[in-house]
Amino acid sequence: ARKIIIDTDPGQDDAVAILLALASPEEIEVLGITAVAGNVPLALTAKNARIVCELAGRTDVPVYAGCDAPLKRKLVTAEHVHGKTGLDGPDLPDPSMPLATGHAVDFIIDTLRAHDPGTVTLCPLGPLTNIATAFQKAPDIVEKVREIVLMGGAYFQVGNITPAAEFNIYVDPEAAEIVFKSGVSIVVMPLDVTHKALVTKPRNDAFRALGTRVGIAVAEMTDFFERFDREKYGSEGAPLHDPCVTAYLIRPELFSGRHINVEIETLSELTLGMTVADWWRVTDRAPNALFMGDVDADGFFALLTERLARL
Ligand code: BDR
Ligand code: CA
Repeated sequence: ARKIIIDTDPGQDDAVAILLALASPEEIEVLGITAVAGNVPLALTAKNARIVCELAGRTDVPVYAGCDAPLKRKLVTAEHVHGKTGLDGPDLPDPSMPLATGHAVDFIIDTLRAHDPGTVTLCPLGPLTNIATAFQKAPDIVEKVREIVLMGGAYFQVGNITPAAEFNIYVDPEAAEIVFKSGVSIVVMPLDVTHKALVTKPRNDAFRALGTRVGIAVAEMTDFFERFDREKYGSEGAPLHDPCVTAYLIRPELFSGRHINVEIETLSELTLGMTVADWWRVTDRAPNALFMGDVDADGFFALLTERLARL
């Protein structure tokens, strides 16, 4: 199984991404979950991550709290999408498992140092603050990372928090710049992909029809989340962003994209956090990411439903 650290700001879609990983022990070994401020402030994302572990019956997975604010900017949150708690929808109990001792950034550093080079994959599902902070604090770990598979950015699909920028990158563009310039091999799941992974009514019904605590909770999460996107984009359901990351680790062939250069806008107020993706390779800038463009949505939801049934 591939060893991963999930860096996250749950978030209903983060929650589903975590559940998918925990349901797939043959392919994925979750070494730990690191919470970051994003959709909601850190205290809530650190709490929600534990709620999700308990929902999955996996209180053995350590959850660490990380950075409570972006590197240089004031935190922007997304309660308008995720609700006040960040995990609105299902009625889940407060977690009884404690946070793991220590800072998420130190956990990331120590874990990469403790494992053989090229064996640990980082899976960021929120702003890149924890990852960038770890790279700055311990530059020796950068070359030890096997790969970063992240949700963030947008190209043809443009922005969801500003006309030009996707939320995760927009919240901490300086952190994103550090990560994209790090030299680590990066797989990007941008809005171009995630807006094709829509939780339509039949797909939501399939979660609920599992009849399990997890299935029903996921249906209630995606129901809540969907309200917003229906109104906003007139689409047939909510884009299930973050699970694209964990699905990729299990079934990479569901996704297709291009090895291209991606730069992060950190200066312009108008386009701050834009992922300037050289999709048509019109520059000679070296490729630094596998930028995904498409997903087999039916295959993705079949995988997700089948795996959630195991929890
Ligand atoms: C990203 O922003 C958050 O609201 C979601 O959890 C996802 O990670 C989508 O832009
Ligand atoms: Ca997220």
